[in-house]
Amino acid sequence: MNTDTLSGQMIVREAEPLNIEMSFRTLDSLITPSERFFVRCHFPIPEIDVKTWRLKIEGSVEKPLALSYTELRQMESRTLTATLECAGNSRASLTPQPKGTSWELGAVGNAEWTGVPLAAVLERAEMKASAVHVIFTGSDQGEIAEPPRPAGEIQYSRSVPCDKALKDVLLAYQMNGEELTPAHGFPVRVIVPGWYGMASVKWLERIIVSDTPFTGYFQTIDYAFWDRRDGLPERVPITEMRIKAEIARPHIGEVVPAATAYRMHGAAWSGDAHIMTVDISDDAGATWHAARLLGSFMPNAWQLWEHTWQTPAQPGRRTLMARATDSCGHAQPSQHDDDCGSYLVNHCLPIEVEVR
Ligand code: MTE
Repeated sequence: MNTDTLSGQMIVREAEPLNIEMSFRTLDSLITPSERFFVRCHFPIPEIDVKTWRLKIEGSVEKPLALSYTELRQMESRTLTATLECAGNSRASLTPQPKGTSWELGAVGNAEWTGVPLAAVLERAEMKASAVHVIFTGSDQGEIAEPPRPAGEIQYSRSVPCDKALKDVLLAYQMNGEELTPAHGFPVRVIVPGWYGMASVKWLERIIVSDTPFTGYFQTIDYAFWDRRDGLPERVPITEMRIKAEIARPHIGEVVPAATAYRMHGAAWSGDAHIMTVDISDDAGATWHAARLLGSFMPNAWQLWEHTWQTPAQPGRRTLMARATDSCGHAQPSQHDDDCGSYLVNHCLPIEVEVR
């Protein structure tokens, strides 16, 4: 495992294409600073000249558009806070270790995004009533290494159904009050609140309104899982984030003093739902104790939590876990669902520490 760090706060999983995660033990704020927000790239970061960049809106629309950056910036903007988690976050905790980037806890972050609601752009383009999906294409491109794969180079693309597109999807040009950085999708990226990060297409250059659901590579081969209907597994695209709580401190392998009050803390999130409870176990899930939720609920943003852990008097190894529930009645499972492959890792993750 590559554990090179950038000033101790970021862990480099791959330098080219760039894939870095936050060292989750450094979590110290509701908003993740942009330079500590994980970066997930499938292909090299494209160089984009904002003067010639155009956002094309085409397909099932009455008025195809090609908006310049200035035109987009002149439209009414909205700011929202949203947590993005990579669908493969925490893959490192699976055994045996599957293929794919070995993310630990830090391929997740919570930022403030400013941009133009997609609904306003679709309204200007006059989306047709026959439309069912809105496809986003990024400027980045490359070849897929592992079969099954399409031949040659492909561009990164993903889609959302029209109801989601019109509800709250943002075409963001700012992150935490500043222009997007190249790694996070400059000049414009999609933000799909409540969904795993793969839907939030960076370096957006084309929006295709489609009369049929999209079945592209990153929609059905990658970033998909087996869902069972009537017992029959069906391949479906990954969409909403599943409920999850992560422990920032103590971290795996941390040595904690015996017989003290230790401040455990972390974050929890769940698609569109509110986090209702976070419980903590210090005996691998045998008993649970309520943690405190910090701050107030913000839609689509993670909820920070803390818990004062009275550490045992006896030295030895302890397995800590956090478990969240939400307003839609979801609770974290105790085991990973194998139908999800190496994605959607949201079971209660064990954090082994040493009490000394
Ligand atoms: N968009 C493009 N064009 N290319 C990509 O490789 N990666 C996706 C998504 N958007 C990707 C993309 C994935 S898998 C995730 S998790 C998020 O971007 C990560 O966003 P971030 O790098 O800003 O954290």
